Amino acid sequence: MKHTTIIEPFRIKTVEPIHFNTREERNQLLKEVHYNLFGLEAQQVIIDLLTDSGTSAMSSKQWASLMQADESYAGSQSWTRLQEVIQKMTGFPHVFPTHQGRAAEHILFGLIGGSGKPFISNTFFDTTRANVEASGATAMDCPVDPSTLNKDEKRFQGNMNLIALEEKLRTSKTPIAGVVLTVTNNSVGGQPVSMSNAVQVKQLCRVFNIPMYLDACRIAENAYFVKHHEPNFINYSAREIALQFCRLSDGVLMSAKKDGLVNMGGFFATRNAQLQKQFQNALIL
Ligand SMILES: Cc1ncc(COP(=O)(O)O)c(C=O)c1O
Repeated sequence: MKHTTIIEPFRIKTVEPIHFNTREERNQLLKEVHYNLFGLEAQQVIIDLLTDSGTSAMSSKQWASLMQADESYAGSQSWTRLQEVIQKMTGFPHVFPTHQGRAAEHILFGLIGGSGKPFISNTFFDTTRANVEASGATAMDCPVDPSTLNKDEKRFQGNMNLIALEEKLRTSKTPIAGVVLTVTNNSVGGQPVSMSNAVQVKQLCRVFNIPMYLDACRIAENAYFVKHHEPNFINYSAREIALQFCRLSDGVLMSAKKDGLVNMGGFFATRNAQLQKQFQNALIL
């Protein structure tokens, strides 16, 4: 068998000590929180498999930028730089930074959600579902069933189940208020979504005249999968593929702690001028 060693083109120099506990202590702690892992304190966990969030190391340049940040009350250069990067990445003119992805979700669903409105996703991430439901709306998942996929489709087990989506769009007594495509699909094991699936989701949204939003936490990784496993995209860069995903959507939510490779932050970006005004007002209030 041929082994390939990938030499990472960077050095990691930061060391953060972790607290060790014994198996008996862990068993006791689990009992005390009634086996609900959300009841544990972070320092009681040695290896945290709950999330991929904020697990990437920041580069020396990122840390240096933090020190050089312009904290001016108005017209900050750091904001302008961030805005330009997000505009370039998403192709959207309107950008709203938030402290985490869940804060962007909270504002968005506070605006577009509300009592009894149904939303559909390939799978809502838990914070997204919580924010949809907190607004009074309902969240429905339509993931593909991996056992029904052929060899090529198996690469994209994060896809939306198009048959289930169309059926819900056609038969829902209350019109579907929006669709959220999560790329990659974190809650089904971080599986990627194919571009052809995203295009078909968009086509259905067009037919039923409903907005499509992207939860884009792992959009770079997803673009990598598209480039390497969807024959039509082999000659496109990951950046071009990511932009194409954004173009299909009406707005992008992102927790930048994932493919943004930062230790905290998130944003919402959109081309929708009405939503831009509402978002702005919500942030000012
Ligand atoms: C797909 C997805 N959406 C939303 C979020 C929420 O982001 P944050 O933790 O920055 O609030 C996460 C975080 O794990 C996520 O993976």
